[in-house]
Amino acid sequence: IAPGTDVRAEIARLRRERNAVILAHYYQDGEIQDLADFVGDSLDLSRKAAATEADVIVFCGVRFMAEVAKILSPEKTVVLPDMKAGCSLEDSCPPDAFARFRAAHPDHISLTYINCSAAVKAHSDIIVTSSNAEHIIRQIPADQPILFAPDRHLGAYLSAKTGRDMLLWEGTCIVHERFSEKELIRLKTEHPDAPVAAHPECPGHILDHADHVGSTSSILAFAGRTDAATILVATEPHIIHQMEKANPDKTFIGVPGADGNCNCNDCPFMAMNTVDKLYTCLRDLDPQIQVDADTRAAALKPLDRMLAMSP
Ligand code: 13P
Ligand code: SF4
Repeated sequence: IAPGTDVRAEIARLRRERNAVILAHYYQDGEIQDLADFVGDSLDLSRKAAATEADVIVFCGVRFMAEVAKILSPEKTVVLPDMKAGCSLEDSCPPDAFARFRAAHPDHISLTYINCSAAVKAHSDIIVTSSNAEHIIRQIPADQPILFAPDRHLGAYLSAKTGRDMLLWEGTCIVHERFSEKELIRLKTEHPDAPVAAHPECPGHILDHADHVGSTSSILAFAGRTDAATILVATEPHIIHQMEKANPDKTFIGVPGADGNCNCNDCPFMAMNTVDKLYTCLRDLDPQIQVDADTRAAALKPLDRMLAMSP
């Protein structure tokens, strides 16, 4: 980047010139969220990517999210500020191992969390996100065995919620696993009237304390709806940016990890995207997401099923 470049002004100019749309997840840095045309959860962002008339999608999120955008809108150019922005759930589920798991349970339908690679989606029957999973499971006949991958905490939560016994893959999110129950209890004692809003990627011992469990969008909606003045937040803390913007009269406190510091719960993958990299990927149209035609065709089917079965 040339010295003296006004990066924000250049992003505004290039966005018009390239007919680009900037999509951002709630876990991105507040500055990136404020530059975006649309901020949302995984399902909202998939729908936006499928519907946009822009020629270029700048996806400020992690790689699997940008891949979904490319699968749903293959004719668009999809760029990601940092191609290394992965996800621990994706890493926990290598496509070959997942294909073997599926082959070992041929009678099971595969319900797969969107936090996985395009290759794993290609081996799946239906994709779900945390905002539509329960609704989709309730549409699956009661006698149909289900396997759920890759997040075992979300799987266990859904199993308990729907009463469906599911075979679970052993993956976890490194961010949501870090919350400390001891620190959460300490915060609850300090703020006895504050409800706890948690993402279902949290382990059960954190969810047991939650008053609201849901996707990032639903946590944001809960923040607006509750009469409470203070809310304890057990998900990646960058979502607090939108919560504060929408509710300037309320206080949001991120639940910390064992060291008492809530910044240790920042998603290291989301943090790889910066405003400077957002600018350079829009300027250079690089790095671009590519999904080979066979993988795309196979991954599109379970994604289309998800969109058709979503509320
Ligand atoms: P949401 O779909 O709730 O936004 O979750 C995405 C994610 O990666 C949570 O860690
Ligand atoms: Fe993946 Fe967890 Fe980061 Fe979400 S917060 S992108 S699940 S590592």
